[in-house]
Amino acid sequence: MADSDNSAQQAESYYFTHEPPPKDLKTNTTLAREFIGRHADEGRRLVLVTSGGTTVPLETQTVRYIDNFSAGTRGATSAEYFLQNGYAVIFLHRQFSLLPYSRHYSHNTRSFLDYMKEENGQVVVDEQHQDEMLRVLRQYTEVKRENRLLILSYVTITEYLWNLREVAQLMRPLGPKAMFYLAAAVSDFFVPQDRMVEHKIQSNEEFLQGPDGAGAGGNTKVPAARTEGRSLVIDLEPVPKFLKQLVDGWAPQAMIVSFKLETDPSMLVRKAQYSLNKYSHHLVIGNLLLTRKWEVVFVSALEGEKWIRVPRSRRTKSFSGMPSLVGSADYLANKDASEADDF
Ligand code: PMT
Repeated sequence: MADSDNSAQQAESYYFTHEPPPKDLKTNTTLAREFIGRHADEGRRLVLVTSGGTTVPLETQTVRYIDNFSAGTRGATSAEYFLQNGYAVIFLHRQFSLLPYSRHYSHNTRSFLDYMKEENGQVVVDEQHQDEMLRVLRQYTEVKRENRLLILSYVTITEYLWNLREVAQLMRPLGPKAMFYLAAAVSDFFVPQDRMVEHKIQSNEEFLQGPDGAGAGGNTKVPAARTEGRSLVIDLEPVPKFLKQLVDGWAPQAMIVSFKLETDPSMLVRKAQYSLNKYSHHLVIGNLLLTRKWEVVFVSALEGEKWIRVPRSRRTKSFSGMPSLVGSADYLANKDASEADDF
């Protein structure tokens, strides 16, 4: 075994021994096992879509946390396209971020009540929204009838990683019929449990707790987030990169698509390429914060670098799906940005 494999395994083992599992992990695992088993029996392809940001709590009884940017648009929209293409979808998302189908009517400036009106003492959908809502409702009803969407949630980076590992291991027997589509914005830094204070970090010097001034909650190590003088000092540790484990250990035969988010255009393709070389998975989809709604770059061993852009004339609404990705492994060769019909 190579040294890098060894150290990745050690990092995994250390992380999952020291960071406690979320309370709902058993429930999620039971639901996922049943869902995966049923769709495997029916011979269906199955994808795990991750979506939304991951928080890094600074206190055990969390008042303050660091967050990673993501509304969940990419994940929720892409999940709809996978469902439309016959996949069963496990949607592992940040609690209260966008959900497939309901995303059309939530998280915007308009209330869902604005889609309704009263007619003869009944609530009905306003005429101007009938066609669009009927289209979404039909898709949603079919998916529900076939029981093809399982929704699981997380909030923190640790909850995310525990769920990812458990579900990935359950999907392992599916071999190449499994796919991972990792659109969640995963925090690179975190506060380990043994360096986290129990209570809200105090800002008023008169109320500082514990010898370190932050109330270490029984931990002997210096808290990662603490007040020093009048400043809040945050000293985070790196989250181990689990893509390697996913590719090599948790689900070695699955198709794996990861995302790369950057803000500096000159870094995007280089970093996507670096990730592809390092983890040897199938595809990295790169996007820039400011342009992510209308352009992405696919970086793969098969095709090199390929940009998908929504034409300027069609950029009126948000481009957030990846319709051309869904379907088969030869998606790169056959599809074109003009087919992207979700914007
Ligand atoms: O939700 P929206 O508002 O629509 O925004 C969508 C998006 C911009 C969040 C999405 O398209 C996106 O780019 N998601 C990935 C963001 C991200 O976490 O990038 P990264 O460079 O930090 O990580 C790259 C990959 O490594 C990710 O696929 C992640 O799963 C993986 N990773 C990251 C950290 C870690 N410790 N282990 C990992 O395996």
